[in-house]
Amino acid sequence: MDKSQKIVLITGVSSGLGLAMAKCFLAHGHTVIGVSRRRSDIALSHWIQADLTQDPDRVKIVRTVEAQFGHLDCLVNNAGMGSYATWEELPEAELRALFELDFFAPVALTKKLLPLLEKSHGSVVNISSAAGRLWVPCMGAYCAAKAAVAMFSNTLGIELAKRKIHVLDVAPGQINTGFSSRAFGHRPVPDSPGSGSTSPEKLANFVYCAWRKKQTRVTYPSMLKYALFFLRAIIPGIYQKVSLKLWKL
Ligand SMILES: NC(=O)c1ccc[n+]([C@@H]2O[C@H](COP(=O)([O-])OP(=O)(O)OC[C@H]3O[C@@H](n4cnc5c(N)ncnc54)[C@H](OP(=O)(O)O)[C@@H]3O)[C@@H](O)[C@H]2O)c1
Repeated sequence: MDKSQKIVLITGVSSGLGLAMAKCFLAHGHTVIGVSRRRSDIALSHWIQADLTQDPDRVKIVRTVEAQFGHLDCLVNNAGMGSYATWEELPEAELRALFELDFFAPVALTKKLLPLLEKSHGSVVNISSAAGRLWVPCMGAYCAAKAAVAMFSNTLGIELAKRKIHVLDVAPGQINTGFSSRAFGHRPVPDSPGSGSTSPEKLANFVYCAWRKKQTRVTYPSMLKYALFFLRAIIPGIYQKVSLKLWKL
């Protein structure tokens, strides 16, 4: 196999960002192993049907990769879901289910795949969220889970640096995937400034370039990191007032 052609495992390939990233990596000539519960409608190199919240399914993923490929260059932990409810409204079972998928599943899968990634000096790419870097009312559980994912990436990156495993945290802003319609909670999601303008394909290309450049922490769009800092540090009072109005609190 051509050395520039990598073996990449992407979770959540049946829709949205995962599907777009799978297409992007395939278009660049890489082998893409996709994971999801529903089949993806693109021709992946290999598809593993799995519920990432179930440990036996995670074991199945690792065994399949070992048996069929014996090698892995990059794990993209993308599968996830949202939650639109206040802390008071959110049932504990939904909070736990959210953390199972958004936090515990990527941590568990990464740990199981580290031996393969160590051999290849590969990468772990975690899709967190801009929501993990800003306090968004009615999205507190999601913000907390994604902040945990970002901290997982940052600390893991340091722990693995000497073993030459690269870790990238990607914090996207709002992307057009229909993600909100599949979230927990029943709060209608207000339009936020600049929302609805970004396609999953653009983000996929951005992630691909960040992975190739071995970056460690990126927000998408790049300028968003300045906006987040501005909202948090410069105008927290105005941000809070606008949030209360937007979310009808
Ligand atoms: N869209 C945004 O605005 C946005 C912004 C920032 C961050 N993100 C993050 O980006 C990632 C992808 O979001 P998206 O917008 O592409 O959402 P999406 O279109 O709803 O896709 C979610 C993917 O996760 C998979 N998935 C869900 N539960 C699963 C489970 N238990 N086991 C295996 N796979 C599962 C789904 O496949 P199946 O249902 O077939 O299993 C689907 O392929 C998420 O981590 C999200 O938090 C999204």
